[in-house]
Amino acid sequence: PHQWRGVIEEYRDRLPVTPDTPVVTLGEGGTPLVRAQVLSERTGCEVYLKVEGANPTGSFKDRGMTMAISAAKEAGAQAVICASTGNTSASAAAYAVRAGMVCAVLVPRGKIAPGKMGQALVHGARILEVDGNFDDCLTLARGLSERYPVALVNSVNPVRIEGQKTAAFEVVDALGDAPDLHLLPVGNAGNITAYWKGYREYAADGVASRTPRMWGFQAAGAAPIVNGKPVASPQTIATAIRIGNPASWRLAEEARDASGGLIEAVTDRQILSAYRLLASREGVFVEPASAASAAGLLAAAEAGRVEPGQRIVCTVTGNGLKDPDWAVSGAPQPITVPVDADTAAKQLGLG
Ligand code: F0G
Repeated sequence: PHQWRGVIEEYRDRLPVTPDTPVVTLGEGGTPLVRAQVLSERTGCEVYLKVEGANPTGSFKDRGMTMAISAAKEAGAQAVICASTGNTSASAAAYAVRAGMVCAVLVPRGKIAPGKMGQALVHGARILEVDGNFDDCLTLARGLSERYPVALVNSVNPVRIEGQKTAAFEVVDALGDAPDLHLLPVGNAGNITAYWKGYREYAADGVASRTPRMWGFQAAGAAPIVNGKPVASPQTIATAIRIGNPASWRLAEEARDASGGLIEAVTDRQILSAYRLLASREGVFVEPASAASAAGLLAAAEAGRVEPGQRIVCTVTGNGLKDPDWAVSGAPQPITVPVDADTAAKQLGLG
């Protein structure tokens, strides 16, 4: 029986590791590529969801973190630091535990989903809530890593991108070739950069016959790449992508342009609508930011901009359990009943 070994062992020959690299892993990667029935119907395409919430800490960040923490350990680091909107910190905290390292985390005060804060806490990270946004946290984290013996594990660290590119490998390995179109949410813009790198490497080596067009989606209130200028005070309910000055801005534009793709904005209303559709019609529970890819696909399809017959992959980046408040609010509430079969049957509409 085959046990998935984590992205470093599965893709060792395509990653910057040596036989001496201490592999710090939680078995990340190998996530489901699920056929999306409703999205396929609505677009006339063959649509798949790459369900990254199935990773060990519930987001795609684990792919990059296994690389970043392994590299930090190899370099002899005893402590790591990151800025985060929540998922990077949850992942860093967990992998730091595996490596026996101290993890420091800088998050924007009051803007972290409760599940993510719980993860950083339970893994024993040292957490600072910064009076500022993610971009301020990243500036602080960079400065601290330059002045103190603490390794920066944000996606400005190139080994993070190396780990995250394995998601593109998995898509090609599962489908037999690259899709026509790949959609994903864009925040700090590391992940679109990573997928594009992965797709290009497979195409260059002939594993795939082509690369997909890359479509990225920012939240309308936090859409610096779309607007062409930084957003000083980014706003969106999708807190994971509440970022006004993405570190990988230029690389994201390069992925967009070289692939013949686009980066556009979706409103919070479109994000929440796609979030509910994914949960109620596809059976896939994601966090709001993750739904930006599906929201972008639906908006483009409604505008007649999605050619039917294509093979399309939407990455859904994080697990819905991280931010459960959005699932509860606006949904029909449970009904209280006594221990009585007739009442229960009536309330359930059974007869
Ligand atoms: N989706 C989720 C669930 C995320 O957590 C993030 C980023 C993104 C999408 C955007 O990915 O930054 O590579 O463009 N979260 C980072 C964090 C910023 O700190 O957890 P990106």
